[in-house]
Amino acid sequence: MGLQGKHIILGVTGGIAAYKSVMLLRLLIKAGAEVQVVMTPAAKEFVKPLTFSSLSGKPVVSEFFTANTGEWHSHVDLGLWADLMVIAPATASTIGKMANGIADNMLVTTYLSAKEDVMIAPAMDLDMWQHPTTQRNIETLRKDGVEIISPEKGELASGLEGKGRMAEPAEILSSIEKYFANKETLKGVKVMVTAGPTYENIDPVRFVGNYSSGKMGFEIAREFAKRGAEVILISGPVTLETPSGVAERVNVVSANEMYAKAEEAFPKCDIAVFAAAVADYSPVEAADKKIKRENKDELTICLKRNPDIAASLGKIKKNQVTVGFALETDNELENAKRKLKTKNFDFIVLNSLKDPEAGFLKDTNKITIISRDGEVKEFEAKTKSEVAADIVNSIKL
Ligand code: CTP
Repeated sequence: MGLQGKHIILGVTGGIAAYKSVMLLRLLIKAGAEVQVVMTPAAKEFVKPLTFSSLSGKPVVSEFFTANTGEWHSHVDLGLWADLMVIAPATASTIGKMANGIADNMLVTTYLSAKEDVMIAPAMDLDMWQHPTTQRNIETLRKDGVEIISPEKGELASGLEGKGRMAEPAEILSSIEKYFANKETLKGVKVMVTAGPTYENIDPVRFVGNYSSGKMGFEIAREFAKRGAEVILISGPVTLETPSGVAERVNVVSANEMYAKAEEAFPKCDIAVFAAAVADYSPVEAADKKIKRENKDELTICLKRNPDIAASLGKIKKNQVTVGFALETDNELENAKRKLKTKNFDFIVLNSLKDPEAGFLKDTNKITIISRDGEVKEFEAKTKSEVAADIVNSIKL
């Protein structure tokens, strides 16, 4: 796949892997991209700007203005011009600056003005990579929507062996090509995702709820958005930030509220993913004042059934592709197949609580996808973001 006509900012920072960025630039140009190189002052200690400008056909931008002419380089204009910003190599220092908004050079300033998506290919020594500060900064950037091209294991400039080597230029190129290919695939497609738990009030300070973190649903919403879909994310109470690119987030608390919002969004959608762990029951009546202990040895709370959001919308569905989840502890496949039928899903994603990698509050998941026509696909344990990609890949419109 080519990159014809794509505008890419290639950010180069001061690490030994900067020499590999020359090769990356060549690959980008060969693939048809127009590339503007932005270097940090430290990067110029490793590779001369002339090498990059000769290959890109554009003067390298490194300072806020050219000293002898006084020409101002606008980071805002750069941000508007670009379709994608790729920082390779990204040193621990630049990653730290990006995560904390320390805009003391042209590259970080350009990052902060970027309207386009950003990818980074970190490169550093293994201890720096493993340091909690670096990992925290990486996590911050990931949450901010930056795609991280994971460093590889191997020989490092320090002579040590371990994780920290910048991904090879060919691999970075393929991530870039994948990004552009993905971005187009679900353009114009409307997707609804329910996520997180629901809380059902017992009184003003207590609720019936569950351990759902919302991570799986949020990763699915992120994945759809990455592919250009218009995503509405209906979320129960979670502490997660809205994934970048998600068009609309609707926060709800109870199953009834989630049902009302989902019912409103559903008819306009092409795809609906029901990833929420909806409470099946709620107190018949929520007390309006805090329930006092009053020396009672037992307290009975009477519960009534909540609406089954997926099943109700399954009844009114027209052309929508619907995807459900089944979290089971026993008779997994059988239960999942039954839910697929009764809720009129096209696919159901099964996770078993027997798998140590699956379940609530985890960062990993192990799934099996069962389709309406009976196909059963088992997947390895993966991170929730990789699982989200597998789920989205399985949906055929
Ligand atoms: N679901 C829903 N509304 C509910 C309950 C579940 O939309 N009130 C959806 C979930 O989002 C999930 C699927 O239905 O996609 C299955 O949820 P699950 O809790 O496993 O199924 P239940 O029907 O509640 O079955 P059970 O509790 O008996 O296992």
